[in-house]
Amino acid sequence: MQDASGAVVAFEHVTKRYPGSDAPAVDNLTLTVPAGEICVLVGPSGCGKTTSMKMVNRLIEPTGGRITIGGEDIMSLPAVELRRRIGYVIQQVGLFPHLTIGENTAVVPKLLRWKADRTRKRTDELLDIVGLDPARYRDRYPNELSGGERQRVGVARALAADPPVMLMDEPFGAVDPIRRDGLQNEFLRLQSRVRKTIIFVTHDVDEAIKMGDRIAILQRGGILAQYDTPAAILANPASEFVERFVGADRGLKRLSMGRVRDLDHIEPVIVRSGEDRAEIRKRLDRSDELTFALLVDDDNRPLGWIDQHDLRGDGPIDPGAATPGAPTVEPESTLRDALSAMLGSSVQLGVVVDERGRVAGLVSVDAIGERLRAPVRGVDGELHEVGEADATS
Ligand SMILES: Nc1ncnc2c1ncn2[C@@H]1O[C@H](COP(=O)(O)OP(=O)(O)O)[C@@H](O)[C@H]1O
Ligand SMILES: [Mg+2]
Repeated sequence: MQDASGAVVAFEHVTKRYPGSDAPAVDNLTLTVPAGEICVLVGPSGCGKTTSMKMVNRLIEPTGGRITIGGEDIMSLPAVELRRRIGYVIQQVGLFPHLTIGENTAVVPKLLRWKADRTRKRTDELLDIVGLDPARYRDRYPNELSGGERQRVGVARALAADPPVMLMDEPFGAVDPIRRDGLQNEFLRLQSRVRKTIIFVTHDVDEAIKMGDRIAILQRGGILAQYDTPAAILANPASEFVERFVGADRGLKRLSMGRVRDLDHIEPVIVRSGEDRAEIRKRLDRSDELTFALLVDDDNRPLGWIDQHDLRGDGPIDPGAATPGAPTVEPESTLRDALSAMLGSSVQLGVVVDERGRVAGLVSVDAIGERLRAPVRGVDGELHEVGEADATS
């Protein structure tokens, strides 16, 4: 698949009033989704998420304002032409039960009257992209697939016309939590390749934080409460409503977003069995931050900590002097996991190891605290200070 990139989607003062209703379902919504990014619309039930999304492909017509895709007013295009440029994925993927998976995926290419071999090549490619082996799945019927697999076919079908924009309404809502996590990860990997502009609706704030490059939080009446990056929203909620909506465990959520690789690493004092105590003492004295040396095996894998008090005297170090159980963390570990590993050990340092378990550096509990107090980048691309109360919440 070529490096297709999405188009900018912009809402400009968009309002929707349903007939017979006094209050607008969407009220003066203005926001811009940059090309190739995922914007998550999130908020409580009835806040206008689905209405906002369906106005983009004109399943619902706005009563005020305008929406543009790639700078073009969506009202200037025939609805059929517009929808060809927009992939649409809904919760209960409407797969045609009497068509095979291959045929379901080929609906749009058929509509576009592609030749049979081009259609076949494209559908196989799409099934492959969403992680379904075409040879195994092409000729099956939807009722022979699990909910998660059907959802992937829905995504493949939405991608078939290579649309610059995708709309996804609670796409993983019907999938059980364990499989949902896998589908989310898979979708994020897919998105890093296809780089569509995606408007993604969910009522689940954790899903929003995980999936969104930016998040629009809506409140009852279709009012935009905050539009920012997940990090900026968690660090500085714009109102009490947002604060309540993101949850009291906002600090923990921030920890879950950060990764060990983002932390400043400390150079460990590395010790191997049989090394001279006086020599190790000297090296440890030179370090400002460390009062422990790290004993490693011949392959540089950590064996345990050696306290400076156990380095008194002369002669070779005894491996038995090490306190075993140095907590290891990986660059990809979340700060939340790293913190709990470190708090569970006597030395509040984590050993960062590579994929083969070899020491790559140390991280401290303090570094995690510093990270939480560091400025966060907002949708404006600027760094914003974290509010005093929010740095520790
Ligand atoms: N077709 C409709 N006719 C009248 N009111 C509607 C219609 N669809 C949605 N609404 C109302 O508009 C508001 C927003 O609905 P919706 O966009 O579906 O919210 P969400 O997707 O956030 O749950 C709700 O108050 C809902 O009752
Ligand atoms: Mg909805």
